[in-house]
Amino acid sequence: EKGGYDHFMLKEIHEQPKAVIDTYRGRMLADKGMVRMSGIDNHMNKFLNADRIIIVACGTSWHAGLVGEYLIEDMARIPVEVEYASEFRYRNPIITSNDVVIAISQSGETADTLAAIKLAKSKGAFVFGICNVVGSSIARETHAGAYTHAGPEIGVASTKAFTTQITVLTLISLKLASKKGTLSKSALRMYLQKMQLIPNKIEELLKIDDKVKEIAAVYKDAPNCLYLGRGFNFPVALEGALKLKEISYIHAEGYPAAEMKHGPIALIDENMPIFVIATNKGHYEKVVSNIQEIKSRAGKIIAIVTEGDTTVKEIADHVIEIPETEEALTPLLTTIPFQLLSYHIAVMLNKNVDQPRNLAKSVTVE
Ligand code: F6R
Repeated sequence: EKGGYDHFMLKEIHEQPKAVIDTYRGRMLADKGMVRMSGIDNHMNKFLNADRIIIVACGTSWHAGLVGEYLIEDMARIPVEVEYASEFRYRNPIITSNDVVIAISQSGETADTLAAIKLAKSKGAFVFGICNVVGSSIARETHAGAYTHAGPEIGVASTKAFTTQITVLTLISLKLASKKGTLSKSALRMYLQKMQLIPNKIEELLKIDDKVKEIAAVYKDAPNCLYLGRGFNFPVALEGALKLKEISYIHAEGYPAAEMKHGPIALIDENMPIFVIATNKGHYEKVVSNIQEIKSRAGKIIAIVTEGDTTVKEIADHVIEIPETEEALTPLLTTIPFQLLSYHIAVMLNKNVDQPRNLAKSVTVE
């Protein structure tokens, strides 16, 4: 059942190239320069006339939602807000029939997300679901939606659900952008072609497992870790920290890199590992200067860089290279080493990887 892997989590990490293909199959028509998604096509006016899009979710799905905010605002120029479902539902939110709500949930059963949807519907909003489990409560409660088609996710720590949610959000952004004309035909084609290369690039990244294992062995006993990223990769930093917390029980925090100097920098000393995403187009110089600030306080840097990088390589204690792609698509790659890292640390610490203490696969109570 685990297909030769020791744990479901590792199996699911390795399923990602296929899961991403399953997500975009039939939707991404790269040769025609088109995205086809019936859930969006059938309600295009709702999206195009929306004052704003509100994304509601919990946990990892909320992190995917944040990537969605960066994607949709950048490509389709529609204002997006991302809310924890649990906060949204209880704070008397201002919501009207001109709002589109996108609810993201792997299980489709998360109580707070479901309640947020019901609230949004009662105020007249159009609600679109991004779920993995077919026929789930959230899939049924929403007006329209798109399944991720990731296949069953058994490991409690979400992996392929995250990358396939981001895949769906990328397709939605491209679709809306092409309809609105905020992205040229040639740019759309370019993105679709680059998307098609992503599964192979994930495959390539999965081969660096030994290197990630070496890094895991060095830092597995750290009591605290920081994860930093900017732009499209800020949510990946949050997700990296969540993965480590969940399965290894090491305290970790994700931060936007530039926020470091507003507080967390006080934590940095020679015992603090800091995982930094420094891809070549993502505010690279600024992240490099953040890395220098950390180095001058003796922090340990493990950097995720674009292949061929030289600057960060000279300063960092360890680097992990990701294949080149468009910056907007990098979350699909940068998240992979973090998943592997958390996995290996948890295994080295003898933790129950697939069923961490105190956690349930779907949180059906608030
Ligand atoms: C993280 C994790 C949780 C879920 C969250 C939402 O690895 O598993 O944070 O992401 O409980 O669950 P869904 O997506 O099923 O609504």
